[in-house]
Amino acid sequence: MTATISPDLSNIIVDPLAYQNGDAVDEAFKAIRRDSPFAKAQASEYDNFWVVSRHADVMEIEKQASLFQNSPRSSTISPKATEGVVKFLTGGESNLIRSLVAVDGAEHKALRGIVFPAMTPQKVRGLEDDVRRIAKGYVQQMLDKGGACDFAEDIAFWYPLRVIMSVLGVPQEDEPYLLKLTQELFGASDPEMNRDKKEVTAEEALQGLLKTNADLEAYFAEVTKKFRANPDDAAVNSLIANATIDGEYLNHRQIMGYYIIAATAGHDTTSNTTAGALWALAERPELFARLKAEPELIGAFTEESIRWVTPVKHFMRTAVEDTEFRGQQIKAGEWLMLPYQSANRDEDVFDNPFEFSIDRKPNRHVAFGYGPHVCLGQHLARMEMRVLWEELLPLLGSVELDGTPERTRSSFVCGPKHVPVRYTVN
Ligand code: HEM
Repeated sequence: MTATISPDLSNIIVDPLAYQNGDAVDEAFKAIRRDSPFAKAQASEYDNFWVVSRHADVMEIEKQASLFQNSPRSSTISPKATEGVVKFLTGGESNLIRSLVAVDGAEHKALRGIVFPAMTPQKVRGLEDDVRRIAKGYVQQMLDKGGACDFAEDIAFWYPLRVIMSVLGVPQEDEPYLLKLTQELFGASDPEMNRDKKEVTAEEALQGLLKTNADLEAYFAEVTKKFRANPDDAAVNSLIANATIDGEYLNHRQIMGYYIIAATAGHDTTSNTTAGALWALAERPELFARLKAEPELIGAFTEESIRWVTPVKHFMRTAVEDTEFRGQQIKAGEWLMLPYQSANRDEDVFDNPFEFSIDRKPNRHVAFGYGPHVCLGQHLARMEMRVLWEELLPLLGSVELDGTPERTRSSFVCGPKHVPVRYTVN
């Protein structure tokens, strides 16, 4: 018999509002891991989908990438109505944007190979001095605020943006525009972030996304022209503009998808994690004191903050053949959710998963995913966050919350958008 998840729990794990509010999602996944760790969810307005709630199973599904693919259906959860419109608009594809997370097999390998060499640990080490210079600038901005700021809005949104844009080769004056478009893209359901700056239905959210996508395409069409005329090997956007597969430039959907994923995945996730890390620190004076006394623990703090926030809440996979998994019969064409937040709170892997602990050795979180699609920017993300804390923490005397933090409203990429803090400077 097919194992199922109750409609109540199913509706929570797809609800952007539940992610914004926090605890209900953790409670729902806790119950799912305990009672029905691999089972089918039945959420209103969505096709039924399997939920892979445990850490080991998320890794297992990701490893079997030719059986469980990204492209046949949307690689993020989307309501039935939205899936139909996207297929209509793209001429049959299930993903509006044909980025790395929407392709499989040989195409994915060839596309990933274009930027992969620029993102290795060794290459990222070579960027550290530049990143530190950027970090120092933002630390100074925070100190100049004179003891209180909204750490998310004033610092955490901007610093990773500046880092990734310098890696991509985007001029600094274009950053606010690209930040706005990224926030519209990931915050399509959030009235503060979305294009229309109001409460929207799923249909209106999609309409907003289409306009944002058109703006991104117009912007990046100019980037292609610029870098084909003047290639620059130090700029990732130039690698994308000039890359060829089988002697041909990337086609329109491939090239746009690549620019868009590089420009968006590269900062919102890191901003969310950075803001969530300071939130955690502001609530834990003993942790703050320990990091000040033992700065060599900053790496462990960064890693735990990535597990703690898990800014990418899920990706979806589609089975391409009938198969069996954990005693359940999966049919070709069925959809599976990989909820990283659940995997990163799995009691079988993490002691006291609901505690923030920098003593996890090793910290085996899967916030960056696993397998062939594992995050391309993971080494950059880790390095830039570590560098920020190395620059900021020695200068702070204390930090505490100065109001109630707020998260974005999204079931895909979600993290704090407001973290009001008060602090003293050494
Ligand atoms: C804390 C920060 C970040 C987190 C938590 C994160 C998380 C993720 C996750 C979960 C995936 C999907 C992995 C999978 O399907 O197994 C992913 C893919 C990706 N990430 Fe990140 N990411 C972060 C930062 C970055 C940065 C800084 C960049 C840019 C340089 C980046 C670029 C990408 C790209 C291009 C992919 C697609 C890879 C593929 O499909 O082959 N990410 N990321």
